[in-house]
Amino acid sequence: MSIRKYQEAPFDPELFRQDGHKIIDILSDYLKEVVNRPDTPVLPWTDPEELAERYAESYRRGNEEPFIEYISEALERSNHLHHPRYIGHQVTSPLPHVALAQLCTTLLNNGAAVYEMGPVAMAMERNLVRLFSGMIGYDDNADGIFTHGGSAGNLTAMLAVRQVKSPYNVWEEGIKKELKTGFIVTDQSHYSVARNVKIMGLGNDALIKVPYDKCYRMRTDLLEKYYERALQKGISVAAVIANSCSTATGSYDDLMAIADFCERYNLWLHVDGAHGMGVLFSDKYRHLIRGIERADSIVIDFHKMLLIPGLNSMVLFRDGRQSYETFAQKASYLFKKQTENEWYNSAKRTLECTKSSLGFVAFTAFKYYNRDYFGNYIDSRYDLAKRFTEMVRERNNFEAALEPQANIVCFRYNSGGLDTEELNRLNAAIRDIIIKEGKFYIVQTELEEILWLRVTIINPLTTEEDMQLLLKVIEETASSIH
Ligand SMILES: Cc1ncc(COP(=O)(O)O)c(C=O)c1O
Repeated sequence: MSIRKYQEAPFDPELFRQDGHKIIDILSDYLKEVVNRPDTPVLPWTDPEELAERYAESYRRGNEEPFIEYISEALERSNHLHHPRYIGHQVTSPLPHVALAQLCTTLLNNGAAVYEMGPVAMAMERNLVRLFSGMIGYDDNADGIFTHGGSAGNLTAMLAVRQVKSPYNVWEEGIKKELKTGFIVTDQSHYSVARNVKIMGLGNDALIKVPYDKCYRMRTDLLEKYYERALQKGISVAAVIANSCSTATGSYDDLMAIADFCERYNLWLHVDGAHGMGVLFSDKYRHLIRGIERADSIVIDFHKMLLIPGLNSMVLFRDGRQSYETFAQKASYLFKKQTENEWYNSAKRTLECTKSSLGFVAFTAFKYYNRDYFGNYIDSRYDLAKRFTEMVRERNNFEAALEPQANIVCFRYNSGGLDTEELNRLNAAIRDIIIKEGKFYIVQTELEEILWLRVTIINPLTTEEDMQLLLKVIEETASSIH
């Protein structure tokens, strides 16, 4: 086939069909290979400059390079999240059929800013908002909206907090220095929370950081003290942001205690459930979010623990009317009625204007995979994290930072005789070697100046044997360094 055809007939359905079939074959073979734990690396490591130069060359070759070869090579060079030894960051190995739905949405390119541009996605979003509101235990007043990611979801909720809790229209009039909205958090909150405060122009003292306990959960016994202190500094404390669960260690804050506190002082409770809200599907682990129905707003990332390709997040509001308050802004070319709360025109409620068909993609997952499927998935990953921690503790040359509540484990190699700095260097070097050899993809995190290796057991195909092998590979790597 002449390469130039791509340009001559860009919308030729037959050309699309031919290459499309080939791409599906390539992707199916790719899946077959990676799920079988090949010797090929999880992440085929190339230095950033070198890879950028390869793509500079690729660009120079232009469309003389066959499309299929170009795609195959890009797949090969990518990080293979479906590989059972991918246990790194909190990004899922998506369900392949849901990825097919996403492919359709990409070609359709229906935006979800206004109903007319993406009617199907909006209708599906609506149903998912109802489904999740029901699972949370909200009543019919609840409402919600999809965003591209949890960071944007947290910002959407935080803007709503400020708008609802301010004694004047802050959206229209801007921030008044003497009325600075404050958010109670911990140092374990996701960095998007601190970043959002800065984006909102509130500055550092708007973040009231309550200490956390030895399991990295908010010290609810100190809430009152920090609240009073912030008031004395002139901060208008508006909300508590709780983790369900935290990013670094997967720790779930005590929502009941926090909700009681919020009720007492008429504060908003926002729950960052970007990672951990999958327990909604689990009979065994749902207790970790006891009290969730008392939250004013919740963020859920479907591209983390719900096997959906990213970015795909939902923000729920217990009182749905509050989701409309922030972005009350005139855009008459988009909306006919400015004053009505139209759920189907999503741009009225988010930062984003054009938005991809997130509802379509997520709906596909929850339509074809039932509650038990997701429940079993969550149980098996959380159970395996606990089992892995036992395996770590059974060995005298490893230690775990804490007992995991979720599917995130922080641990390190420590055969004794090294000080903290030496151990930090050793563990960082171990990770560096392992990921560059491609045997596993794991990450690292720092807690109280100690560097921990960190795994998120997110891939449904990762087994206990894989986790045993990880410890063996770490031991071997450590002895090769010593
Ligand atoms: C608790 C928590 N909140 C928010 C986020 C940000 O989500 P996203 O990457 O979808 O923007 C993360 C990401 O890891 C997270 O762990």
